[in-house]
Amino acid sequence: MKPFPSYPIIAPSLLAADPLNLEGEISAVEEAGADLLHIDVMDGHFVPNLTFGPHTVRAVKAITRLPLDVHLMVNSPSCIVPWFIDAGANWISFHPETEQHPYRLLQFIQSKNIRAGIVLNPGSHWRIAEPLLPVLDFVLLMSVNPGFGGQSFISEVQDKIEPLLALKSNLIVEIDGGINSINAVGLRERKAHVLVAGSSIFGQRARTTLFSERIGAYSLAISALRGK
Ligand code: DX5
Ligand code: ZN
Repeated sequence: MKPFPSYPIIAPSLLAADPLNLEGEISAVEEAGADLLHIDVMDGHFVPNLTFGPHTVRAVKAITRLPLDVHLMVNSPSCIVPWFIDAGANWISFHPETEQHPYRLLQFIQSKNIRAGIVLNPGSHWRIAEPLLPVLDFVLLMSVNPGFGGQSFISEVQDKIEPLLALKSNLIVEIDGGINSINAVGLRERKAHVLVAGSSIFGQRARTTLFSERIGAYSLAISALRGK
């Protein structure tokens, strides 16, 4: 799989993009220097919201070169993981409490040459990752309760980064929820690899309407998260 040049990498979350202009929004963040596109899949059961399905992921895949990071917030993810593999996902993560056989599902995802991850809620202990390490490419730490964009960052979650990094040298640690240019400083200091950001990137669009100006605004937001 293609390595990334340097960390942290920045993954805009499509949930905060203009839902009536997804193509324009994706092109704009791609032009603005995004590394990965984060796509939240919610089923209305595990979390109280409904979002994107494989139909949308396939359409997104057709218009972008960015790798797709599919975050499943659904019950029984093993039933639907194959749909997202077919649709072109490059990274897939699920919440281990939603799956009876998390080890097997991670193995399956890896067998398709896709990065496999689990997602830990703010109330979940980092040790949950330990027995899954042989089949884990990444751990996604939620820094908000899953279900909605635009929530406030739960700073205690940062304390899980260090013990996770100590577990396995090549484990990728991704953080998701309420991330902005201010709390990104501490996340970079703690050596988080991937910062997911919805509102703090796409929220910049109210300032402008022109496509070129939108790219400029997103580019500033991405650079601020990256710290350069
Ligand atoms: C929350 C989602 C996040 C969300 C992040 O359930 O998993 O990916 O889109 O959005 P912000 O950055 O607005 O918190
Ligand atoms: Zn997410």
